[in-house]
Amino acid sequence: MRILGIETSCDETSAAVVEETGDAAKPWAIRSNVIASQVPIHREWGGVVPELASRQHIRDICGVVERALVDADAKWRDLGAIAVTQGPGLVGSLLVGVSFAKAAAAASGLPLVAVHHLAGHIESLVLHNGELPLPSVVLVVSGGHTSLYLVERPGSYQTLSRTRDDAAGEAYDKVAKLLGLGYPGGPAIDRLANSGNDRAIALPTTRLTHADRNAPELKGDLDFSFSGLKTAVARYVRGREGLSSQEIADVAASFQRVVVTALIDRLFVAARRYQAASVGIAGGVSANSRLRAELMGRGERRELPAFLPSLSLSTDNAAMIAAAGLRKFRAGITASLDLNADAALPLG
Ligand code: KG4
Ligand code: ZN
Repeated sequence: MRILGIETSCDETSAAVVEETGDAAKPWAIRSNVIASQVPIHREWGGVVPELASRQHIRDICGVVERALVDADAKWRDLGAIAVTQGPGLVGSLLVGVSFAKAAAAASGLPLVAVHHLAGHIESLVLHNGELPLPSVVLVVSGGHTSLYLVERPGSYQTLSRTRDDAAGEAYDKVAKLLGLGYPGGPAIDRLANSGNDRAIALPTTRLTHADRNAPELKGDLDFSFSGLKTAVARYVRGREGLSSQEIADVAASFQRVVVTALIDRLFVAARRYQAASVGIAGGVSANSRLRAELMGRGERRELPAFLPSLSLSTDNAAMIAAAGLRKFRAGITASLDLNADAALPLG
């Protein structure tokens, strides 16, 4: 069976066709994955402008879906279902994908599957590597989220921790702005950090020892916090009369070291605590070169299988939504045509 996936939660309009392989170890194959990025539009404003994002999704969605079908050499009648990101994300953007998917499902008679965006990111690990050894602890780290999940069974997700304030990708974007590096900041800092000294500037690491009042059921010591780090960088930059390009590279490298250490440390503490058989990192920040290298290095030293998506599956794309949709469809879960977008949809 082939499924059409649609993703419009932020600033990428994406559609993909994913097919079942019949191989239980590597269950899905990508037949097409079309992504129309809005980065050039938002770059001018230094970040994503929600109203511009939803308007651009409306312009792009029909062409992107048609292209995904053509690339996969598929017609509507060749599909078995339509999967769409229901949330979380920008509500105006989500609504474009959800409305399109509902209209397409109504017109074609195909079943509709609602997918959580972060379940999609977790599925990108399976798309690229095949099924993970379970239980697995997965870090989802993007522009809007930084959370640890325990995956005990395929398709089940238990939240172990999350960020108390900024997401890691958000911290990258804000620090890049402070350094005058433009939007999106993650790739720019990643590139510059290679030529900087990662010990040049002392930046704080936040350790949380108490439970979050908003999530008293979690112990809280695996939570993340990046706003203090961002403030420390802002204070450092303001305290100088302009930075040389070497100093900018040093700040980028020092910032990246602290972020990556915080992410990797907690992932491996969680892996030990929950006796994980594997670990994974997904989401836009999983494209980061230092994070990728440290995950693989630490995994090898601990003799724990470690997984990443390919670079193209790290950032937002519809192939991961299609794959997560197929998993849900095979578990017998479909959505009705009164499905609504949910900007704050919880996972698990
Ligand atoms: O998953 P994603 O495409 O969208 C969200 O769901 O948020 O993630 C986008 C985030 C942005 O904050 C971007 O700066 C960050 O991922 N990012 C990176 C890198 N590539 C993208 N952060 C650090 N290093 C990178 N190489
Ligand atoms: Zn994402």
